Amino acid sequence: MNFVSENLAVNERGHLTVGGVDVMDLKEKYGTPLYVMDEDMIRSHLRTYREALNTYYNGNGLCQFASKAFCTKYMCNLVAEEGLGLDVVSGGELYTALSANFPADKICFHGNNKTKDELTFAIGHNVGTIVIDNIYELEQVNHIASDMGKIQNVIFRIKPGIDAHTHDFIMTGQIDSKFGFALETGEALSAVSLVKEKKHLCYQGLHCHIGSQIFDVKPFCEAARVMMAFIKEIKDKTGLVTEELDLGGGFGIRYVESDDPIAYDKYIKAVSREVKAQAEMLGVKIPKILMEPGRSVVAPAGITVYEVGCVKEIPNVRTYVSVDGGMADNPRYIMYGAEYSAVLANKAGEAAECTYTVAGKCCESGDILIEQAKLPKVEVGDTLCVLSTGAYNYSMASNYNRIPRPAVVMVSGGQDKLIVKRETYEDLIRNDL
Ligand code: LLP
Repeated sequence: MNFVSENLAVNERGHLTVGGVDVMDLKEKYGTPLYVMDEDMIRSHLRTYREALNTYYNGNGLCQFASKAFCTKYMCNLVAEEGLGLDVVSGGELYTALSANFPADKICFHGNNKTKDELTFAIGHNVGTIVIDNIYELEQVNHIASDMGKIQNVIFRIKPGIDAHTHDFIMTGQIDSKFGFALETGEALSAVSLVKEKKHLCYQGLHCHIGSQIFDVKPFCEAARVMMAFIKEIKDKTGLVTEELDLGGGFGIRYVESDDPIAYDKYIKAVSREVKAQAEMLGVKIPKILMEPGRSVVAPAGITVYEVGCVKEIPNVRTYVSVDGGMADNPRYIMYGAEYSAVLANKAGEAAECTYTVAGKCCESGDILIEQAKLPKVEVGDTLCVLSTGAYNYSMASNYNRIPRPAVVMVSGGQDKLIVKRETYEDLIRNDL
């Protein structure tokens, strides 16, 4: 049996296993819907990134997990244990990381509109790097750092003008983007030049992120070239030396059979080669490389387990299979038309000969998880798993229709461990007055 992720298999009972654990046992123990994540796979991805930087760039870099993909205290602990850094984009993500005692100097704070409170919180807790998105923020970070008598390391978010062939909503490197400073207009250079006058900012370097779910190394190499040329321009025109180049995240993963991701270390290899070659050619210092993978670390490691509550055949149209979750725990179809694969955990060894539309339980016609899922004959009570849901599912979940968020379970070495409790109805009304 071939699945989209290599940590999935079928056991002698004909059940789906994830990281060697029988999904039917997890269903029985924790109920549905349930997010299940494979810790061993997550750790192995984190190590791949770390080791690739050692192998191809003499360790002169740091991978920072983009916590927006999956942010819990447990995950922050895993990242810290594997020696990586963390990218946070809000006070809430930062709070989660600090609550897990994540080393603050390895945290990088992003965002196009960080509030004054968030910046004060971050600087007060000695966050390693703040990514400056706009000129107001440059002033504000300088002020807050000055009030606290600190000097804050900053890097600047640049729009390198790269078209990365991905969904419009997750494409960020082009000029028409709310993130960062434009190169073409000279905006980026004048912003960087200003840093010299700011006594409480320490210029470290540049950042760019060209998009997400990208399957090709070329746009990353192109971005690296553009950024290195800018590093040279900064040196020539301002005398500033760029110590760090953060090339963002965006590496693609397999959601459906036709997706063809490349090995994660290949991105680092290609980018490392490009940056070194450009540094030599342009006569600038080889910068420390930072990368921010999110999806590729966690997406393939996660599945969501549901129970089928009804099967509705509409003759000559389609057959809907409705599960006990949906857009509240996975809004990616309704937001991006995202594609997924599914398996019936209790019939995982059976041939997938029927086509169904897997729908959620929300009061919304667009609440679909998979438009055309290939499955064995589905019956009420079956256990349906949507695969590759480890990124941007739990982190984007909502309480729409007042549906409590599912629990999250980690499996490792054949054992399971609850890492986030299932929300209760009481949780839903906790803040209602
Ligand atoms: N760094 C920055 C500055 C980013 O904006 C992002 C993603 C990442 C790193 C991580 O990218 P990744 O390696 O995960 O592709 N909610 C969307 C994805 C939005 C990504 C936003 N930024 C989805 O569900 O597909």
